[in-house]
Amino acid sequence: MNEKGNRYSVRAFKKETVPDTIINEVLEQVRWTASSKNTQPWKLHIIRGDSLEELRKLSLKKATVEEWDPVFESTSPKALPAELYDRAKVCGFTLFEHKGIGRDDREARKAHNLENFKFFDAPLVILFSTIKEPNHEVWVDMGQLLANTMEQFRIRGIASCPQWSLHHLAKTFNTWLKTDEKYTFSFGLSLGYEENDAHINKFRTVRQEVNEFTTWYD
Ligand SMILES: Cc1cc2nc3c(=O)[nH]c(=O)nc-3n(C[C@H](O)[C@H](O)[C@H](O)COP(=O)(O)O)c2cc1C
Repeated sequence: MNEKGNRYSVRAFKKETVPDTIINEVLEQVRWTASSKNTQPWKLHIIRGDSLEELRKLSLKKATVEEWDPVFESTSPKALPAELYDRAKVCGFTLFEHKGIGRDDREARKAHNLENFKFFDAPLVILFSTIKEPNHEVWVDMGQLLANTMEQFRIRGIASCPQWSLHHLAKTFNTWLKTDEKYTFSFGLSLGYEENDAHINKFRTVRQEVNEFTTWYD
């Protein structure tokens, strides 16, 4: 939690495993996540132990040689409205600044990116799949599921980092997970107890003030 009690992304974890009781409690809560017309367009893959080490190796190997195989094309933040692109730039620059990575230091930037494919050395990873041709409602549902999952873990003392970047290896994960062919891996969540002393975990992002994104109609 940050000083206001809100969640933040954690990118360094203790080795300590997350107890089954906590995982089961969270899953029991998140199954009640709301979805458009109650379609529940999700499958969750809970990965830990030897399986996680195997997947970590595979994912890192592919990411190192940039053998990408996404299912959904990612839009460059440049294609977004300027105010969003600006926020994305601030987020990236301040994170690199926090880590002491220079703007032209490609090696260090690549190493930073590869941390994602090591799942930040987390002891627990949840991979989220959805249907292969999701409509807008499905993405809203998946977002709710992700937020709910992070929050349910957070209130039980388990930190996390959501990861869209993993989608660059969607087909690799589909094969490894033996996903039902109507479904595809969409994004991941690395989880564990926060390594409190890790410098990366002291990084904080900013937000708009409430009046900047709300309009009241009385
Ligand atoms: C859907 C989604 C995907 C994300 N993907 C990544 C990712 O691949 N790697 C990463 O380090 N952070 C990722 N993040 C974390 C965001 O960068 C982070 O939530 C944002 O900068 C706000 O910071 P905070 O989570 O610390 O409040 C993702 C967040 C969301 C919600």
